[in-house]
Amino acid sequence: MAVLVFSGKGGTGKTTLAALTVRYFYEKGKVSLTLDMDPDAHLFKLLEVPLEQTVGNIVDRVHKEKNFELEPRKPVDVSDAEYFYSLVMRDVLIESEGFDLITLGKPSSEIDCYCPVFYWADLAISKILRSYKMPYDHIVVDCDPGTEIFPRRILDTIAEKVGIDYVFIIIDGSRMSLDTAIEIRKEIKKKEGLRFGEVLGLCNRIDDPKMQAIIKEFAASEYGINIAGFVRSDIGIIEGALKGEGILKKTGLRAFEDLKKILQSLGL
Ligand SMILES: Nc1ncnc2c1ncn2[C@@H]1O[C@H](COP(=O)(O)OP(=O)(O)OP(=O)(O)O)[C@@H](O)[C@H]1O
Ligand SMILES: [Mg+2]
Repeated sequence: MAVLVFSGKGGTGKTTLAALTVRYFYEKGKVSLTLDMDPDAHLFKLLEVPLEQTVGNIVDRVHKEKNFELEPRKPVDVSDAEYFYSLVMRDVLIESEGFDLITLGKPSSEIDCYCPVFYWADLAISKILRSYKMPYDHIVVDCDPGTEIFPRRILDTIAEKVGIDYVFIIIDGSRMSLDTAIEIRKEIKKKEGLRFGEVLGLCNRIDDPKMQAIIKEFAASEYGINIAGFVRSDIGIIEGALKGEGILKKTGLRAFEDLKKILQSLGL
């Protein structure tokens, strides 16, 4: 099993590359558990599945109906944890061909904080990962922009239970995206004893080989970031995004060919 996390500065291509990775595994006959950890959820659109409920919605529901604490200070009762988990499995988990998707989303504006969503999602995901018949070949995680997710427990749980193999930080060639990469790496360095795997840069939408060479050199020498490869800008992706289309069946995507090569070079 491989566990891949897509992180980085806002708008660099995390969700696009995460969706294409799910497609890559699917075309190899593998099933991915796909986690959309961005409160501003978009992954479902690229994976062409309808989103009805998120973990955030369930947190709202159990808080209102069952009076569940938003962020319990004591361990949650087994029956409450079971109930929450059953709602996530029934209403949030979307099963599709080649992948299942769980979207964290956000709670209602009354709650005004993402912490409860991460808290309860952690509980549910932990239970999925503990299950002895976990049916997934791989796990693909699409993060929110920046570093917000890293101090929370949810990635630690995944690292603890199954181990993260790669944290990809998507770079768009800007200094800001490299700065974010450094911040992410700092957060990961704090996770002593947890398996966060290899932290690699993936450069997206820089097509000129000369520019690629400059960025690769600069990322390595000034930031100590190793760039695993380059995914070229792709007119098919731009058009599809404008039309609100998915990315699973589109043919002739050179970005997909580039990403495939990178994933293959890592033995995935
Ligand atoms: N290789 C590419 N070629 C062309 N367009 C791309 C490519 N990668 C991403 N895009 C486009 O760039 C925009 C941002 O991509 P995406 O939503 O994947 O970024 P993100 O990092 O997930 O953003 P956010 O931080 O908002 O979650 C989208 O419109 C997407 O279609
Ligand atoms: Mg995104």
